[in-house]
Amino acid sequence: MTEIIRIPVEVVEQLMVDVFVALGTPEEDARICADVLITSDLRGIESHGVARLKYYYDRIVAGVQRTQTHIAVVKETETTALLDGGHGMGHVIAYRAMRLAMDKARRYGVGAVAVRNGTHFGIAGYYPLMAAREGMMGFTVTNARPAMAPTFGTEPMLGTNPIAFAAPSDLPYPFCYDAATPITQRGKIEVLERAEKPVPEGWVIDTEGRPLTDPTEILERFGQATAALLPLGGAGEEMGGHKGYGLATMVEILSASLSGGMFLKDLLGLAPDGSRRPYMLGHFFLAIDIEHFIPLELSRRITGQIMRNLQASRKWPGHDRIYVAGEKEYEMEQERRRLGIPVNPNLRQELQFMRDELRIQGYEAYF
Ligand SMILES: NC(=O)c1ccc[n+]([C@@H]2O[C@H](COP(=O)([O-])OP(=O)(O)OC[C@H]3O[C@@H](n4cnc5c(N)ncnc54)[C@H](O)[C@@H]3O)[C@@H](O)[C@H]2O)c1
Repeated sequence: MTEIIRIPVEVVEQLMVDVFVALGTPEEDARICADVLITSDLRGIESHGVARLKYYYDRIVAGVQRTQTHIAVVKETETTALLDGGHGMGHVIAYRAMRLAMDKARRYGVGAVAVRNGTHFGIAGYYPLMAAREGMMGFTVTNARPAMAPTFGTEPMLGTNPIAFAAPSDLPYPFCYDAATPITQRGKIEVLERAEKPVPEGWVIDTEGRPLTDPTEILERFGQATAALLPLGGAGEEMGGHKGYGLATMVEILSASLSGGMFLKDLLGLAPDGSRRPYMLGHFFLAIDIEHFIPLELSRRITGQIMRNLQASRKWPGHDRIYVAGEKEYEMEQERRRLGIPVNPNLRQELQFMRDELRIQGYEAYF
């Protein structure tokens, strides 16, 4: 079979739970990991959903990521905490950190939690959305292994360092901005490689600042640090590339300088002898309980009105719709719940491989 098939949401989610459990993750934690990944697929962020399952599988099998998550509270006050994730499952560490920030916010208005020794936690937007569901605003950032060059540089120094913020509204969906700070992120290049499509010019440069467009070459070169993503705004200062660079640096500081964790090239995941080691990522989570400021319903109305006013404003010729962040993802979720998650042949092969290696029963109807 060469075509993309749709697999029901609950089947994809259960397969991910089965894979994580078979790898040694406790079931409760496996469900958190699978929920973050399926939320990504539901929201149309294919780069970070089930397509990433093999990435976690490989790291766990290679022994660089622990399936048992033991989080240590290094320091704590009423409104703040510093956690050590102990190189456990990134989604579980991040989920518990955001939960702690929200519990603090519920009591004291704000909760801020810094994490060190975290691992890849998937889409950053999952965690602020937890806050928005409970009437709070949420903010999450994380650093990541180096992939992006600073303005006027060609060396990958900063990670794709995403910023995510969500706020409840009176629309059927919250505002949710969730994006990396380079023009694009590594996962989208992996998606283009799987789809056998070129990378648009202006996303990635080589060591001389020349554009690269072959996704396979780019992914190989990332491994050798001879290709770098460009910051939001692109090359140089003319289109504001320095602003993407500044935002990525802000994320790096929030992720490392509050947690005392690793930063920039120390996040390469390589020990001094060249062997693989955990990434030791840093994250930062903030929850703000709106009721400590104004009534939640008023805040929802104001946020909703801001979104509606933007949507209703004058359109660019040829465009009949202005979106707000979180809107496309909401619509995608309605569609995917109905039609299932699209799975292409390459991904199907990966899923089949993991099922067989881990001797998981079932799923024969799909691969
Ligand atoms: N964990 C990590 O290390 C890591 C690193 C990088 C990225 N990520 C994740 O990858 C995902 C994708 O990142 P990305 O940079 O490719 O995102 P993207 O470029 O697809 O932008 C997504 C954001 O833009 C909004 N948006 C899209 N079109 C819009 C429009 N026309 N008008 C208004 N808003 C619009 C979306 O609602 C969303 O908030 C994110 O979920 C991010 O958290 C994770």
